[in-house]
Amino acid sequence: MKLIRAQERMFTHPDHAQLPHDPEYAFGTAFIVDHFCPLLEASVPVIDVGFMHSDAVYDVVSVSRGMFFRLEEHQARFARACEAIRVRNPFDREREAAILHELVARAGLRDAYVWWTVTRGIPPMGRNEMVNATKFDNRFYAFATQFVFVFDDDQRARGIDLIISRERIRIPPRAVDPKAKNFHWLDMQMALFEAGDRGAEWAVLPDEEGYLTEATGANIFAIVDGTVVTPDSGCLEGLTRQSVLELCGELGIPTACRRVHADELQNAREVFMTTTAGSIMPVRSVDGHPVGAHGGAGEISIQLHNLYWEKRWAGWHGTPVRYELAGNAL
Ligand SMILES: Cc1ncc(COP(=O)(O)O)c(C=O)c1O
Repeated sequence: MKLIRAQERMFTHPDHAQLPHDPEYAFGTAFIVDHFCPLLEASVPVIDVGFMHSDAVYDVVSVSRGMFFRLEEHQARFARACEAIRVRNPFDREREAAILHELVARAGLRDAYVWWTVTRGIPPMGRNEMVNATKFDNRFYAFATQFVFVFDDDQRARGIDLIISRERIRIPPRAVDPKAKNFHWLDMQMALFEAGDRGAEWAVLPDEEGYLTEATGANIFAIVDGTVVTPDSGCLEGLTRQSVLELCGELGIPTACRRVHADELQNAREVFMTTTAGSIMPVRSVDGHPVGAHGGAGEISIQLHNLYWEKRWAGWHGTPVRYELAGNAL
């Protein structure tokens, strides 16, 4: 089976063409605290603790063919993350959604990467007030730009070269809860440099006992003894991961969310990763050893990839972008 060239489709198919827009939003739109601006003019004060201490939660939702994917679930996950780290979102769900719609609408994007955050914000200046979460001026920022693929069509079609990090473990959930999507990326970023040093393209991080958690910015899956398995802890509950579990159900492929030991990848028939900014990303080698017998992207990984895009473009979990909102969200 051939992998659908989703990125090429976004660049060439008329259903994906950018709609008429103000040229200053050609690269995308940002929303900074209380106003919209062109993406390239967006900035953050250096004393925002989100910037200084990675003290923030965020989420990313995608748009394709003019439809958000699983928007309400992304918003619900974001609300849980805000609660988990004790920041207050200045906007309710409806206003937040209106901002996200307008970001996309102003740039006329039919395929978009839409990112938003609430940071700890500006710290209190009073004596001993740092102990009080309500004394910080939490800040909301967001932007939308053209859809981003972590790996392009050719890379997804041939499969990614992955390593299991030897130098890093994923930060344990008791230290930073990975279910609250957060700015803590240094473990994952350092594992990526290790991948580069070892001649690979991406990395997955184990926990301190050798069980897999997640890849850098993505969930990890393996097909072991005919079952699609993915870690049940130490990772973000990805919405692309959720989508894959649903697609497997539809295809009659058994799934299990359970602890997955790093050694299991050696005998896996297929391995793939999932993330919003990249969809389903087949893996062709782990630690330099080919995965399964296929020597490239696995058949089921490709089938899931293709079904994911076909269903999305047909409206699966889709919310049409309110393009008429351009200029009116607030
Ligand atoms: C650490 C981490 N794990 C997993 C994912 C995948 O989540 P989703 O499929 O909801 O994008 C992401 C997405 O950015 C992530 O940052």
